[in-house]
Amino acid sequence: MIYLDNAASSYPKPTHVITAMEACIRDYAANPGRGTHQLAMRASRTLFEARSKAAKLFGIKNCDNVAFTKNATEALNLGIKGLLQRGDHVITSTLEHNSVRRPLEFLHKQGLIELTYVPADAQGRFYAEDIRPAIRDNTRLIAVTHGSNLTGTLMPIAEIGQIAKEHGIVLLVDVCQTAGVYPIDVEAMNIGLLAFTGHKSLYGPQGTGGLYIHPDLDLVPLMQGGTGGYSEWVEMPMTRPDRYEAGTPNTVGFAGLLAGLTFLEETGLANIRAHEEALTTVLHQGLLEIPGVEVYGPPLGEARVPIVSFTIAGFESHEIGFILDKNYNICVRSGLHCAPLAHETVGSIEHGLVRVSIGYFNTAEDIDAILQAVREIAG
Ligand SMILES: Cc1ncc(COP(=O)(O)O)c(C=O)c1O
Repeated sequence: MIYLDNAASSYPKPTHVITAMEACIRDYAANPGRGTHQLAMRASRTLFEARSKAAKLFGIKNCDNVAFTKNATEALNLGIKGLLQRGDHVITSTLEHNSVRRPLEFLHKQGLIELTYVPADAQGRFYAEDIRPAIRDNTRLIAVTHGSNLTGTLMPIAEIGQIAKEHGIVLLVDVCQTAGVYPIDVEAMNIGLLAFTGHKSLYGPQGTGGLYIHPDLDLVPLMQGGTGGYSEWVEMPMTRPDRYEAGTPNTVGFAGLLAGLTFLEETGLANIRAHEEALTTVLHQGLLEIPGVEVYGPPLGEARVPIVSFTIAGFESHEIGFILDKNYNICVRSGLHCAPLAHETVGSIEHGLVRVSIGYFNTAEDIDAILQAVREIAG
C-alpha cells in the first residue's frame, strides 16, 4: 500500500511514537496534575516535556502559553470564540479550512462579528498587501492558514504579521499544514494565536493539538471544569495553561506527540522539508506532463507545501480516488477537503479534486507509482 494522504493525517508514525504511547499506558498512565504521587508526577512530566518541545518548535519562550487541545479545530475555536467580542471585525482568506471558517461564520450569523474574506487568486496565490484595504477601525483579528490544505499555497505570514502589528490587530495562524516542515517563529512573525494539530507533520497521534496564546491576550475559556489545582475557586484559575485545559488531558496521546517532536528534532526540519519538496516537484512536474490532467494551485517553481491537487478530464474526483485505492493500492484524498471556498477560488467546486500529500516516509518509488497510475487512468 502507498500512503499519500499525509495532509489528512501522517502515516506511518515513527516507531518511537508507538513505543512511547505503549509505555505510557502500561507504565504510568496516572492523572497528570491531579496528585503528587510518583505516577502522577511522571505523567505531569511527560506533558511538560511535550509542551516544552512544542513551544521550542514555534519560538515560544514560556511553554505555559501553550494550551493543549484535542486537535487544531478545538484550538481554533478557543482562539476565535475566546478572543472576539460583539462588534469586532475579522479578516480571513478564501483558502481557509472549515475549522477556521465555520467558527467565524457561526459568530457572524449570530450578528456578533463582521467578517471579510480577502480572496486568493485563481492559482491560489495570496498577497499580504490585499489585506490592507480590508482593515477597519474595529478589526480585531486576522485569521489565516499558513499552508492551504487544497492548493498547497504557502501564505506570506511574516508580511501579514507585520501588517497586523502596524494596526494593533491580533494575528491567528492555522499551522496544520506547515508545523514540522517550515520554520515558524511566533515573535518574528508577530503571531498572537497559533493553532496546531499533533497528528500531521508533528508525527503524534490523533487527539492531540494546541493553541499558543500570546501572554497579553486573555481568552475566555471554551470550557470550565477541574484543573487539578485551585480547586476551592468557583471560576477557572488565571494560571496558564490550566485556565484553558479543563478536564483530564490525553496523556497517552501527548506521550506520543512528545516522541513525534523528538523525532522531528533528531531528523531536522530542513532535511524533512528538502525531502518532501523534492518529491513534490517531481510529482507536480510529472502530472503536468500527462494529457488530460489539470493541476491546481501555484505554478511549478513557486513555493507550495507538499500537496498537489489535480483532476483528470472526464472523471469525478471521487472516481479517481476510488480507482487509485482499489486498483493501485494508493491512498489519496478526493472531494472538497473541508475547504469549499478554496475550491471556489480555484474553480474546482463542481467536480472536487484529487489531493496527493507527501510525507517524510514517502519515496521516489511512491511518486513513480502514482504517476504511472494516473497515466493509465487518463490514457
Ligand atoms: C489547514 C487545516 N486546518 C485545520 C485542520 C483541522 O485539523 P484537525 O482535524 O486536527 O482539527 C486541518 C485538517 O485537515 C487542516 O488541513
